[in-house]
Amino acid sequence: MTVARTRPGSSTAPTPTGHPLLGSALDLRRDPLGTFVRAQREYGDVVRMTAGPPGLRAVMYCVFSPEGAQQVLAAQATNFRKDNVFYEEIRQTGGNGLLTSQDDVYLRQRRLIQPLFTKKRVDGYAATITGEAEATAERWRNRPEVDVVREMDRLALRTVSRVLFGADVETAVDVIHANFPVISAYITQRAYSPLRLPRTWPTPANRRAEAATRAVYEVCDRIIAARREEGGDTGEAGDDLLSLLSRASNEEDGSLDATELRDQVLVFLLAGHETTATSLAFALHLLARHPEARARAQEEIDALPSGQPYTAATPDHLPYLTRVLKETMRLYPAAPLVGRRAVEETEIDGHVIPAGADVLVAPWVTHRHPAHWTDPDRFDPDRFTPDQETARHRYAWLPFGGGPRACIGRHFSMLESVLALAVLLREYDIETPDVDIPVTSAVTLQAVGEARVRVKARAHIH
Ligand code: HEM
Repeated sequence: MTVARTRPGSSTAPTPTGHPLLGSALDLRRDPLGTFVRAQREYGDVVRMTAGPPGLRAVMYCVFSPEGAQQVLAAQATNFRKDNVFYEEIRQTGGNGLLTSQDDVYLRQRRLIQPLFTKKRVDGYAATITGEAEATAERWRNRPEVDVVREMDRLALRTVSRVLFGADVETAVDVIHANFPVISAYITQRAYSPLRLPRTWPTPANRRAEAATRAVYEVCDRIIAARREEGGDTGEAGDDLLSLLSRASNEEDGSLDATELRDQVLVFLLAGHETTATSLAFALHLLARHPEARARAQEEIDALPSGQPYTAATPDHLPYLTRVLKETMRLYPAAPLVGRRAVEETEIDGHVIPAGADVLVAPWVTHRHPAHWTDPDRFDPDRFTPDQETARHRYAWLPFGGGPRACIGRHFSMLESVLALAVLLREYDIETPDVDIPVTSAVTLQAVGEARVRVKARAHIH
């Protein structure tokens, strides 16, 4: 199989036959992540997937190898832009914040926001993170079991809001819980669907999504208003995200208007809470399922100096817990699929990617690639010993993406997760049956339903 403009030796990627009329549409709708894993096993590292009837058929080039992911996200990053359907749908709902913006707008935003994510700044968030985790531990007192999905969602939302917005979002938690899933499902459904009705048509799906978006916008506006009240009109009292952005909007070039400010708040609420919440929930679930891993992690935690508050240096003394977290993010990468659109025709792993093609990098699949991970479905934190990490391809583990658009929150998220896990495991023994929790891939990876874990206060308290 070759196409007209191939270079010597390159070929069109194989296409799974799927349904004669609909291609892989039904499989993708039923089980997108499983369908991509099977495509890699059966067809190799670059697979051309089709979905939808002829005439409306969507075509996607899936790139599964670490080498290919590195090409798309880093080495050829200028050729692979966030112009794909998925990002367009996120943009339509969530606006043009740091996750979705491009070119000059993006560079200006990144310059503005970067100072909040320097190592020094992130290290300073340790006390807030620990405080929120201790409040969660306190909530668990006298409860025989908890749903870690819900509990970690709440913890991550509260932490990111306190750190970035200086806001207490207790009252907004329910609004966000009720509405984010609606928005997320709507974006995903549209992105996968070959036929997209205009968003302005008053269909039930459009109406539901619009109401949900309005509710979330109101939360963002409330956060901004509360911060303004506290810090005066310019928000100059603080140096959190909102103060920085408000100040920028008051400077000479009047760079950020009210809508842009709200878009940024929304992006950080979305990107900064569901993701870390998923990592934390699955880390607790896996530790509860694997008593020997839990015991090893607790041994490390118990060896920390007694009575001293955790700081940004604490994770250095918790190498095993850090490995548990990395292994959790391998099995449950919170961003399981990362999309782009090719500007010009190019070649990945020996296969032609045509100009304008929708391209999908899939951490979910790369993290289970049999050439890079032995027995990939097994939970084994020791895959992340320093020796093993060095021996592996840099892009075999890519939960935070890579290249110029890699996650700005990765250090923050890792610090938050390790410290929160340390607090919770210091206080509680956790247990759960050895059964997988089903997941779904919306904008981020989500557990389907609850993940209940039995909690038992530990005899000693530091
Ligand atoms: C487990 C936690 C997290 C995971 C797995 C994750 C994953 C990712 C990935 C894969 C990307 C790249 C997307 C792409 O290339 O298309 C990304 C970008 C981004 N993430 Fe995260 N993220 C996490 C936590 C956070 C946190 C805590 C924040 C903020 C507080 C955050 C904010 C962002 C932003 C703003 C971007 C866009 C960065 C840019 O393009 O410059 N993320 N994240």
